[in-house]
Amino acid sequence: MKAKVTEIASDVYRISTFHPEYRIQFNQFLIKDDEPFMMHTGFKKMFPITLAGVATIIDPAKLRWIGFSHFESDECGALNELLEVAPRAQAVCSIVGAMVTVNDFADRPPRALNDNEVLEIGSRRLRFLATPHVPHAWDAGLFFEETERTFLCSDLFFHPADPEPLIESGVVDRARESMMAAVTSPLAKEMPYTPYTESTFQRLAALEPQTLALMHGSSFHGDGRQAILDLANVVKETFGTGSIT
Ligand SMILES: [Fe+2]
Ligand SMILES: [Fe+2]
Repeated sequence: MKAKVTEIASDVYRISTFHPEYRIQFNQFLIKDDEPFMMHTGFKKMFPITLAGVATIIDPAKLRWIGFSHFESDECGALNELLEVAPRAQAVCSIVGAMVTVNDFADRPPRALNDNEVLEIGSRRLRFLATPHVPHAWDAGLFFEETERTFLCSDLFFHPADPEPLIESGVVDRARESMMAAVTSPLAKEMPYTPYTESTFQRLAALEPQTLALMHGSSFHGDGRQAILDLANVVKETFGTGSIT
């Protein structure tokens, strides 16, 4: 396995590794600025591959912030390995994430962010949105980079295989196909449809992203607002109707 690095927006780098057993990509995103920020660490067992990818962009020791959505191994499994190679680095996550897991798990204390809090990393600002159960998990949150309008959307828009780094159409179709294909698999019920799922998607769409940075699958450049609204409809049809039993 080897990480493939692509600049998907100015100073926003996608570090993508295709895992031959899972048959999906695990993508991390590095935003280069005075205080470099990385979204997702990837699996602990893939850490040397991820680190080699980071090293093609910056000196990994300069990494300052490590963000992720929710506590799962592809989101933050290699957090402590990264904290070790980057002595100034600190995890940034939701308040729930810090209290419930990361305060205990991380070898250095994380910085817990309030809903809508802005993290300044130099010339760039990252807005944190607490999004419980979107894409899944109580501690979920997502980051929006305001200058390039890049939305770091974790598992939203998931699609499998090893597709191209960046597409300009079809991201919702791919997400819909993946959800339909998964309805009989053990992973089918990944998103609980709650009384606030719809309003969370509305809130994300209002960010009007220009680029969607997906953890699994191609990133998307285009009308992010419309893509999120369309995805919200697919999610409602799939998870909001009780049709999966
Ligand atoms: Fe996840
Ligand atoms: Fe994931």
